[in-house]
Amino acid sequence: MKQASGALLSAINLDRNSRRSISVQLYMALRDIILSGGLRTGERLPATRTLARETGVSRTTVIDAIDRLAAEGMVVSRVGAGTYVSETLEHQRTPAPANIDEPPKDDAPRLSGIVTAREHDYARRTWLPHEARAFVTALPALDAFPMAHWARLSARHLRGERGAVMGYGQPKGLEALRRAIATHLGAMKGIKCNAEQIFITCGAQHAFSLIGRLFLNPGSKVWMENPGASGARNALVSEGAEMVPVDVDSEGLVVSDGLAKAPGFRLAFVTPSHQQPLGHVMSLQRRFELLKAAEASEALIIEDDYDGEFYYGNVAQPALYGTDTQGRVLYVGTFSKSLFPSLRLGFILVPERMIAAFDRMFQLWASVPSTATQAIVADFMDEGHFATHIRMMRRLYKARYEALMEAGRSLPGSIRLHETIGGFHTHADLAPGIDEHTAVAQAAEKGVVLAPLSRYCLSPISQSGLVLGFGTAAPEDIRRGMKVLCGLPALS
Ligand SMILES: Cc1ncc(COP(=O)(O)O)c(C=O)c1O
Repeated sequence: MKQASGALLSAINLDRNSRRSISVQLYMALRDIILSGGLRTGERLPATRTLARETGVSRTTVIDAIDRLAAEGMVVSRVGAGTYVSETLEHQRTPAPANIDEPPKDDAPRLSGIVTAREHDYARRTWLPHEARAFVTALPALDAFPMAHWARLSARHLRGERGAVMGYGQPKGLEALRRAIATHLGAMKGIKCNAEQIFITCGAQHAFSLIGRLFLNPGSKVWMENPGASGARNALVSEGAEMVPVDVDSEGLVVSDGLAKAPGFRLAFVTPSHQQPLGHVMSLQRRFELLKAAEASEALIIEDDYDGEFYYGNVAQPALYGTDTQGRVLYVGTFSKSLFPSLRLGFILVPERMIAAFDRMFQLWASVPSTATQAIVADFMDEGHFATHIRMMRRLYKARYEALMEAGRSLPGSIRLHETIGGFHTHADLAPGIDEHTAVAQAAEKGVVLAPLSRYCLSPISQSGLVLGFGTAAPEDIRRGMKVLCGLPALS
């Protein structure tokens, strides 16, 4: 026992400067020793007095650590006989590594086939940027957000009835918010729907995942715009989809290409109002072709309307949902662009025939963001702040877009900036032979953010290009960013 306790005690290192209490450190050290086999099943621990003396801590501290081990079932105390390593640990422990200070050589966890087998299908996404500068994509103008209204509504709800904001809330989301969204869709897109058809989610990406979970089996074929939305692709791959890259041209998804590659598709993902990332609006002809193809293969369509509020013309682009008479389109919206992304708030508008299926899924998993957040957004919409904010942002993004296009006139011939009809990003083609990644790296050295077009591609396309965001940058930053692009060696 003396020997065991000597070896054991030498493995205990207590750090008096740590923010972790000494008794917790001692408990963790003893637990590691037990789990790694340093003390065997049934073996007696040194007496608390010995442990206290040898480690230089009080006996109360040792007793506290031993109590934690006992509460966890690692040790059992027998009155008058001391404390022993629990018999139940027999066969449960991993063999002791040669040196318990040395981490195992390869301690990576074993991952599911969904993650490993399909690794190449996932789009590589780094952390999305949050700084206000040229040409960050996917981020709205945070500086123009009406924080005072938001703060007032937040305070009102947080001071309100606790159960209403702190409880679990309604499974499909707060009714007041669902009603406000239904009204907004009617006003903006002329979509006729009711609050029962709206399901609140933690953002659009979460909505895509939930749709995949409800309708896909492992290996189900999903048509994906190529290039297309990388977040949607990742969400659907993680629900078992076999993604089929479908060409995109100036009329949107090329339905004939989808039919040639996977006629028996189960789901199609499209961005008809503003193709992500190329910016085209899907033509009426293509919309009908897609609906017909979906009917023929009994497939469903996800319509992602991620930035439809921000059109530069007089009216919003029509929703595919409105043309669908078969109840096959699931319309997904997000507040990441119209308010701000950290809200993690989005929604699915489902055809009436699907309400029961979605209700069932939303009762199985708690899928909605905090009720307090939902209540604040509902009031923000009901009190008219949302409509006012959208109107202001439409003007602001249009002004930034015009600054971008104006400054873009001095770009060299090797890069061609495309016009867009709304939102806060556009794309540029690069002349043959110009490497996207070199241009991106050279711009980054000068503090300008660019996204390579290939980042959006499920399978390579012949055109190389760049995606430029202008939501967060003020016109002066946009002009400065354009000057940097004009001077990039890769483009000269
Ligand atoms: C095509 C597309 N859809 C939806 C979103 C919004 O996703 P979320 O609501 O999960 O933030 C984005 C964000 O950049 C996007 O690019």
